[in-house]
Amino acid sequence: MEKEKLMELARQAGKRAYAPYSHFPVGAALLSKSGRVYLGCNVENASYGATNCAERTAVYKAISEGETAFEAIAIAGQNAKTCAPCGICRQVLREFCVPAEFLVYLEDGRGGIWTRHLEELLPLSFGPEQLRDTWED
Ligand code: THU
Repeated sequence: MEKEKLMELARQAGKRAYAPYSHFPVGAALLSKSGRVYLGCNVENASYGATNCAERTAVYKAISEGETAFEAIAIAGQNAKTCAPCGICRQVLREFCVPAEFLVYLEDGRGGIWTRHLEELLPLSFGPEQLRDTWED
């Protein structure tokens, strides 16, 4: 799928954001290797710490539907300004992808799209394979 199309889906998803406290709606569109797209929006809470970002909403929806491998995510913030994923979301994405291959699409604030590998946004990351040695058969 083209990155422009994925970004448009992220923008649409942001319209469903529940963001009464920050007034900062965010949408995400996560493309699985099977070709399906999972949408997410931020879901805030009166107890602020319970807020879930758009990216994690999309990841958790996809995993709960049985997806395990992903290609890319598009993230759309307010007014087409760049909305970079927070540190927690970077780590959650890291769990389910190959950082050198997974693509993150961000609005560049001028009508275009920036493309980054997750590895660039989360260098020297800690992932599941580092725990594998500790797993028991
Ligand atoms: N937020 C996201 O959903 N994704 C991001 O990439 C950055 C921040 C949300 C969390 C909160 O609801 C609001 O934006 C302000 O932080």
